[in-house]
Amino acid sequence: MLEEYHIPVMLEETINFLEPWRGGTYIDCTLGGGGHSEGLLKKINGNGNVIGIDRDLEAIENASCKLKNFRNFHAVKGAFGDIENIINSLDIKNLNGCIFDLGVSSHQLDEAKRGFSFRSEAELDMRMDNESSITAYDIVNKSTEQELKKIFWEYGEERHSGRIARTIVNERQKEPIRTTLQLSSIIERCIPTNKNLRHYIHPATRVFMALRIAVNDELGQLSRGLEGILRKMSINGVVVVISYHSLEDRIVKNIFRDLTSDPDIREKYKKDDILSKRLVRRLTKKVLLPSEEEQIKNPRARSAKMRAISVIS
Ligand SMILES: C[S@@+](CC[C@H](N)C(=O)[O-])C[C@H]1O[C@@H](n2cnc3c(N)ncnc32)[C@H](O)[C@@H]1O
Repeated sequence: MLEEYHIPVMLEETINFLEPWRGGTYIDCTLGGGGHSEGLLKKINGNGNVIGIDRDLEAIENASCKLKNFRNFHAVKGAFGDIENIINSLDIKNLNGCIFDLGVSSHQLDEAKRGFSFRSEAELDMRMDNESSITAYDIVNKSTEQELKKIFWEYGEERHSGRIARTIVNERQKEPIRTTLQLSSIIERCIPTNKNLRHYIHPATRVFMALRIAVNDELGQLSRGLEGILRKMSINGVVVVISYHSLEDRIVKNIFRDLTSDPDIREKYKKDDILSKRLVRRLTKKVLLPSEEEQIKNPRARSAKMRAISVIS
């Protein structure tokens, strides 16, 4: 078991919204290092259940080991986009709360061989679930120039997406682009950068993030996962989401906003048997950010944004 797998972000705020001391069943849709699950388990004090889901087998194994002394913890390998089937297969009747702490864990980023980082050499992989079929290599070497440009622009908001896509297509005609450092040096050659700028970010940052989002269908997973959990949540159940970039936050904000409006006048979800009647209440009027103290202690918390709702009907 790895001690420094991941430091949980906004743990106290998550626990306060979910109120696990009331007992009940809670799902941690993004188990990772098990930090949020552990926080919940300590509070439910044997009075309920925590189910931890992750699509990464390494996360499941590591967190299962860390939480082995909690008899009311259950780990499930799966993608939260498939949450309704997971809940059905576990025969959960009452669901009282859930947390989505999106993105990748520190461990996934730091472990070079996973291919998420442009700082260390590895095969271009980036799959959270190493049983899924599409890797970053496939996208980089098999997509058309237009497809690459769209991915870099839409998921990475990369201003130089056209130039980068064109250069990748030219370069891969000489030889396939196999590794993280190969790709990162191609990007570096395309983008004018000034390392002395105060807000310097590595030129490959946005493209790597865009590829990761595409490889793991992160935005599709989020929409399906949130809508799925909202179909299954009991009355008074609470959903907490921590996101790390604007595309994720926009999806969360829009789904929550749609479900706070009067079901009778709502167009979206009209054809959805359950969501057409769902009404939720915002627990966070505005997006909630980590405290300054947390941001100093844990730089990976800096981009976190939390939103939470509770189900009214
Ligand atoms: C930021 S980490 C979670 C960290 C965790 N809250 C903790 O305190 O240790 C995100 C985790 O969610 C997992 N994940 C991301 N998208 C997923 C999805 N669609 N389905 C299941 N797990 C997912 C990743 O594999 C990663 O382990």
